[in-house]
Amino acid sequence: NFTPKAFVEEIVAEMKEKIGTDKVVLGLSGGVDSTVAAVLLNKAIGNNLYCIFVNNGLLRKNEFQSVLDQYKGMGLNVKGVDASQRFYDALAGLDDPEAKRKAIGNAFIEVFDDEAHQLTDVKFLGQGTIYPDVIESVSATGGPSATIKSHHNVGGLPDFMKLKIVEPLRMLFKDEVRRVGATLGIDPELLGRHPFPGPGLAIRILGDITPEKVAILQEVDAIFINGLKEHNLYNSVWQAGAILLPVNSVGVMGDERTYEKVVALRAVESTDGMTADWVHLPYEFLMKTSNEIINKVKGVNRVVYDISSKPPATIEWE
Ligand code: XMP
Repeated sequence: NFTPKAFVEEIVAEMKEKIGTDKVVLGLSGGVDSTVAAVLLNKAIGNNLYCIFVNNGLLRKNEFQSVLDQYKGMGLNVKGVDASQRFYDALAGLDDPEAKRKAIGNAFIEVFDDEAHQLTDVKFLGQGTIYPDVIESVSATGGPSATIKSHHNVGGLPDFMKLKIVEPLRMLFKDEVRRVGATLGIDPELLGRHPFPGPGLAIRILGDITPEKVAILQEVDAIFINGLKEHNLYNSVWQAGAILLPVNSVGVMGDERTYEKVVALRAVESTDGMTADWVHLPYEFLMKTSNEIINKVKGVNRVVYDISSKPPATIEWE
């Protein structure tokens, strides 16, 4: 029987013992797992935990600054690194989903390695790995570092990968992580955030990525997600987001013919992301959201709603 309070006491003591006065570097993603891992490590070793939060230019609207401020407010020793341009450069001209994922993974490793090199005498790499990740990475790739290795194909492992690993959450399931987070006093809004993929909006922009497309999708996504929150629908949805399609469609605005982008909205119910059903969002809500998107976001003249379940359709479109 899992009790978050006892877990916190035990794991903090264990981390203290394991790490001593050494330094730990940890990458924060804005998600639940890395945040809870950071707060636990911070409780164990204080400012010897060095957190790095990278803006890959593919986050939701205003997310980098607001999450960074939130981290600072929690007392974490965190450095925000805006590497957007590096990611856009790495993505330029790529339209294959796996090529995009790879470019993003490599760029992240390079940025993180550069940052880790600026810290001296770091001994440990902190990670927000949870139990399902442990199982998945072992069964899918033959070991936790295998995927990262295949991404990093220039000159062997980056230095931070040679650090000793600390993973305070590696025995926990997601709901247990949330309960631990609540016990630690982490903002319920942060703990209740929808899952968001590491490659971010890049896998919701079908085809190649440009900063202009990212900006359009950020606006659309913000209208959709804020609308879900305002209508008390956010918490009954497992994951939601918008997808920018690589097609233009004809529309009419006043007496002008338009030829602009189509966006799809997706909202799913799920327990683990392995299977998912599309959510029957109220028509009124869909109507209001569609009108708002078309009226406010320049470059979009049509909104569609994805009514596919997983399987066979995946949650993300790429
Ligand atoms: P799919 O699209 O496979 O997604 O049904 C299942 C869950 O995984 C997330 N997802 C990813 N997360 N890197 C990530 O960190 C990725 O490349 C990636 N692809 C999908 C997706 O958002 C959903 O929660």
